[in-house]
Amino acid sequence: MTDRLQGKTILVTGAASGIGRTVATAFVAEGARVVFSDRDAAGAEGAAADAGGGAVGVHLDVTDEESVARAFAAVADRGWRLDVVVANAGVQLFGQDAPVADLDLDVWQRTLAVNLTGTFLTLKHAVRALSDRGGSIVVTGSPTGLNGEGRDFTAYSSSKAGVHGLVRTVAAAYADRGIRVNTVVPGYTETPLVTTISQDAASRAAIVGRTPLGRPGTPQDVVGVMVHLASDESSFSTGAIFRVDGGMTSL
Ligand SMILES: NC(=O)c1ccc[n+]([C@@H]2O[C@H](COP(=O)([O-])OP(=O)(O)OC[C@H]3O[C@@H](n4cnc5c(N)ncnc54)[C@H](O)[C@@H]3O)[C@@H](O)[C@H]2O)c1
Repeated sequence: MTDRLQGKTILVTGAASGIGRTVATAFVAEGARVVFSDRDAAGAEGAAADAGGGAVGVHLDVTDEESVARAFAAVADRGWRLDVVVANAGVQLFGQDAPVADLDLDVWQRTLAVNLTGTFLTLKHAVRALSDRGGSIVVTGSPTGLNGEGRDFTAYSSSKAGVHGLVRTVAAAYADRGIRVNTVVPGYTETPLVTTISQDAASRAAIVGRTPLGRPGTPQDVVGVMVHLASDESSFSTGAIFRVDGGMTSL
């Protein structure tokens, strides 16, 4: 523990698994009081218990505004004031998402409901929770929202491009209230989200081949930048995209 987040209260969505769980656990190790939230309530509670440090798990389905509002209210009811929110929950519908001519409307809508509308609802309630004294919001973006990496995933890629735009808009609207909003773009990161790729040798080799640093990412790879953005070290950064993608979108 180095206590870079001592005194901060942080809510993370999608914290039952993968990147969200690892980042939320790292926040606890850095001294923060952390609310692990997820539509998988038992998973969020288990992850919080494993992290220790007084972390709690709550149910939060980002597609349902009442659920989002309830989760933020539950934090306030404890007498806790949020300093940081990480909007990280996301889905990628492998086997269903497709090039545009083959994409079902239902798959498009289910993807956008979580990734784009869910991020909108999270940011709406995060801004309300932070607005009296400012704070930091971090959103998980994707290389597929920056270039043609996700050409076979029209819905996912479009949702993430939307998220990147949403971040800039919210950052611009609330900069004068001291609310900073930034995007972290992980590269190909081996989590339960991408087992379709990680368990298929050819697909895995192909995506690693498109990663200049030549290896898959791990959730731990984004911890450094996430802690930086959650802390006051990043107090002059807003509306920015922080790429942690092994060079995938930069080289
Ligand atoms: N893994 C990658 O290669 C990669 C790359 C770039 C960006 N991302 C993004 O990182 C974020 C985290 O993904 P991950 O790889 O850790 O995936 P993951 O599947 O391991 O974790 C995602 C978590 O989000 C939760 N979730 C899904 N729908 C939800 C909802 N409606 N409400 C609340 N929680 C919900 C899931 O229950 C799960 O715990 C996502 O936004 C994803 O798009 C992942």
